[in-house]
Amino acid sequence: MGIEMKILVTGGAGYIGSHTCVELINAGHEVVIVDNLCNSNIESVKRIREITGKDIEFNEADISDREKMEKIFCNNNFDAVIHFAGLKAVGESCEKPLEYFINNISGTLVMLDIMKKYNVKNIVFSSSATVYGTPKTVPIKEDFPLSVTNPYGRTKLMLEEILQDIYKADNQWNVTLLRYFNPIGAHKSGKIGEDPNGIPNNLLPYITKVAIGELPILNVFANDYPTEDGTCIRDYIHVVDLADGHVKAIESIKDNSGVRIYNLGTGNGYSVLEVIKNFEKASGKQIPFQIADRRAGDVAVCYADSSLAKKELGWEAKYGIEEMCRDSWNWQVNNPKGYGV
Ligand code: NAD
Ligand code: UD1
Repeated sequence: MGIEMKILVTGGAGYIGSHTCVELINAGHEVVIVDNLCNSNIESVKRIREITGKDIEFNEADISDREKMEKIFCNNNFDAVIHFAGLKAVGESCEKPLEYFINNISGTLVMLDIMKKYNVKNIVFSSSATVYGTPKTVPIKEDFPLSVTNPYGRTKLMLEEILQDIYKADNQWNVTLLRYFNPIGAHKSGKIGEDPNGIPNNLLPYITKVAIGELPILNVFANDYPTEDGTCIRDYIHVVDLADGHVKAIESIKDNSGVRIYNLGTGNGYSVLEVIKNFEKASGKQIPFQIADRRAGDVAVCYADSSLAKKELGWEAKYGIEEMCRDSWNWQVNNPKGYGV
């Protein structure tokens, strides 16, 4: 494949970052992680080492800590940065917007300034389908209008714009914006996976907690949407496919200058009830659920057109909803308390 690269992975102890580190190492790249562990556990880094058999460097640091970050850049000759570090809970971002702007935006600005100083001008940034707001039609293409409905989404859109401005001023930068749809699933080893704090907000972690008996019942947020069964439709994507998208993006970054934007999704939409059915089949567990009110901010239907990533990166999702549900369950069963204990 591509040439071996040395990559700084911010937020590499987190859900998507940890899976991406594994795929990067498997593809022959060298990885250095920086994470302040505000939403992750050092155990995930140990597990990455177990899976890959590589002793990767881990730095416990906040991306806004200039002194620590400069030291990391000074000690390593990075080819690129994959930037996952950030806070990501939509509801919390509405309650604490300032915390989100400071952590996600100010933190990234400090890091970009250090990247510039050390002449590391290749970056892959974790954006989100949330930047499409309420899409008028589906599937969603990269050139659809952008809008935001909450402070979390605003941090993503603002950082997309900031990165584009930086490129406009200095075209030595290579910026890849990856807009993720709904990542679920886990590494097939069952050693790394999603480990949310407290009661999960997202569908799959909630389902797995019900399946294991930690939560009594799933609330399905309404069945009066204009879809076949009335529940919302999303484009769920296996986290290992998403991780592979980062490997493809990073391996093509040097041949492609400029700003590139890709949707990473499967192109297939599943309703909440279809996800429940698939999960029950994969796990052999019944998921008790009840229909509840709509959740503020939910859009009825959201799925990607990912043909650009296929055409330009040679990337395409390989796993289907069965594997996503199977691997989410496998992770939960093997780690009933997540990374704790
Ligand atoms: P995650 O919370 O598991 O990982 C983020 C990591 O960043 C955590 O380990 C956290 O400790 C770390 N972090 C946060 N702020 C930091 C800071 N200031 N300095 C250093 N480390 C910091 O989340 P994830 O699901 O792996 O998401 C990764 C990225 O992808 C985030 O930017 C998120 O917004 C984006 N994203 C996630 C989803 C999703 O559904 N999971 C969808 C779209 C976009
Ligand atoms: C959410 C965020 C989005 C973010 C994405 C990935 C909101 C409004 N959107 O997307 O910005 O990029 O996570 O982190 O929070 N559902 C239930 N019951 C539950 C949980 C979810 O019925 O207990 C339904 C939701 O209504 C939705 C679907 O399941 O239709 C998926 O929900 P979720 O996993 O939270 O993802 P999104 O809302 O798509």
